[in-house]
Amino acid sequence: MQYKFEVEGGNFSKAGTASSEVKKILNQLNVDYKLIKRIVVALYEAEVNIVAHANKGIIDVDIDTERIKLVLNDSGPGIPNIEKAMEAGFSTATQKVREMGFGAGMGLPNIKRNADILNISSETGKGTSVEIIVFLKP
Ligand SMILES: Nc1ncnc2c1ncn2[C@@H]1O[C@H](COP(=O)(O)OP(=O)(O)OP(=O)(O)O)[C@@H](O)[C@H]1O
Ligand SMILES: [Mg+2]
Repeated sequence: MQYKFEVEGGNFSKAGTASSEVKKILNQLNVDYKLIKRIVVALYEAEVNIVAHANKGIIDVDIDTERIKLVLNDSGPGIPNIEKAMEAGFSTATQKVREMGFGAGMGLPNIKRNADILNISSETGKGTSVEIIVFLKP
């Protein structure tokens, strides 16, 4: 099964829409709630990162019996140093983003903890691609 969601940069009122849709889908598929929690937390953090740090993005969701694959592609500033960005507490969030309650620098470490596989690639000045895989079978 495949689904596609659009994400608007800067629009915090819609942040989390895709994650809650995916949560509904996984509930309907009777996926184990512990897996749903991991998947939705990882997706939410990646979705909010597009809202907070990029201009716009597309989320592609692909579910089969073995795994769920989430690919988030955005156009935006990109991440110049991915290793640094992965560190707990590292954030370039603006004052405006911090006022919305984000910018602790915990999103990427949280994605890493909840994903079975995480791949990030980025081109500075162009955008970022985040791939998250969670296995649905033990
Ligand atoms: N999609 C993205 N586009 C551009 N930069 C990004 C993107 N995602 C993350 N980053 C960069 O990586 C940093 C760390 O991201 P992370 O999600 O860990 O923290 P944060 O978003 O700043 O704060 P938090 O997620 O705790 O609210 C960000 O501050 C930003 O510099
Ligand atoms: Mg974040």
